[in-house]
Amino acid sequence: MNTIVTGLQWGDEGKGKIVDYLTETADVVVRGQGGNNAGHTVIAKGTKYILSLLPSGILWDGKVNVIGNGVVVDPIGLVAEIGRLEAQGVSITADKLLISDRCHVVLPLHKELDAAREAALGDRKIGTTKRGIGPAYCDKINRNGLRIADVLDEAYFREMVGYRTVEANKVLAEYGLPTFDAKAQADEVLTAFTRLRPHVTNTIPVLHKAWKEGKTILFEGAQGTLLDIDFGTFPFVTSSNTTSGGSCTGTGMPPTAIQAVVGVCKAYTTRVGSGPFPTVDEGLSQYLHDLGREFGAVTGRPRGCGWLDAVLLRHGCMVNGATGLAVTNVDGLDQYETLKICTGYDIDGVIHELPPADRHAWDRAVPVYEELPGWQQDTSGCTAFADLPVNAKAYLQRLSDLCETPVQFVGVGPDRAQTLVA
Ligand code: IMP
Repeated sequence: MNTIVTGLQWGDEGKGKIVDYLTETADVVVRGQGGNNAGHTVIAKGTKYILSLLPSGILWDGKVNVIGNGVVVDPIGLVAEIGRLEAQGVSITADKLLISDRCHVVLPLHKELDAAREAALGDRKIGTTKRGIGPAYCDKINRNGLRIADVLDEAYFREMVGYRTVEANKVLAEYGLPTFDAKAQADEVLTAFTRLRPHVTNTIPVLHKAWKEGKTILFEGAQGTLLDIDFGTFPFVTSSNTTSGGSCTGTGMPPTAIQAVVGVCKAYTTRVGSGPFPTVDEGLSQYLHDLGREFGAVTGRPRGCGWLDAVLLRHGCMVNGATGLAVTNVDGLDQYETLKICTGYDIDGVIHELPPADRHAWDRAVPVYEELPGWQQDTSGCTAFADLPVNAKAYLQRLSDLCETPVQFVGVGPDRAQTLVA
């Protein structure tokens, strides 16, 4: 069975952990969108690994990991990530990691343009990770981006970096920011590529062959539904389709190849960066931060925290076609007395069951809450779904009813062993 794992909230739902769990039975793990804006924390046998561009299957032996065409690759960042994992004893060989020759490349200038644009937006900034993701996807859509196949053609690559640098320097100069030297930039990228070159190939036939041979393929989503360029809280989104459709366009695998979509959400809601967040709650944020939870894996930024929002999850289950839910971080709520779930938004006296498109309507959305009793018991030691406290099961059941999607997995801690099957 081929499965997509997708985030239902604003990213950081714990997808890496669910992907890692599902990887045990997978032959191939593939990513189809995003870049090194993503940060997956996986804890396996007591060791913590942070993955950004690499698919989570890289931590296993004997799995093929694919970076699909829809991913934007920062070669310098990827080489650094490979180095960090190799230093932790993870082997990253050419048969274990394949990179699509169609991926667009994030150049150093994209990162500077990202930062410049954010600075120019002032109070209206998006709060990006400044990894150059937006500018790289802009160039792709604008049809002047460079793909990995272009880097392999060194003379062409140098020439194109030259043109792109002239254009970018005009923008940077306008903001009074340091400009780039085209040659130094091309040299830096080409040097990084010497490490990546053995991994580069046309990944489409590799995936199709695996499919035809009946192998199991796992599609690893990055970010989450509310950061999707079409279905998210635009403009406070990332620049790719983070929802399940992105797994097809970003890999070359058709919808007919996929049988299941696991939608991952936390037992509450978190968000980093700017943009609407109706159920944000200061008390819950403080409580979770005091527990040392909810600091960004890539940037270390404290995440805003709020109550579970069924309006968003209903929307997420619809647009992703989720066949099951994976609810993570249930243990984060262990000691809370009374929990809330948002079942609708009151916007100007009208109750909405789905999120609005109008960005100003978000500012007026007042969450309608339902209260449920907490379980006030430690769940982190539970080894089976049946062991969960009655109130925790009731909370999960209510969520499932509101989203019309069954709960399939429950996370009660960061370790591989703390994933329970419902
Ligand atoms: P960008 O993807 O760096 O352009 O950032 C756009 C928005 O997406 C910002 O609000 C980021 O904080 C958010 N974002 C991007 N990647 C992630 C992620 O992996 N987890 C959570 N938020 C993310």
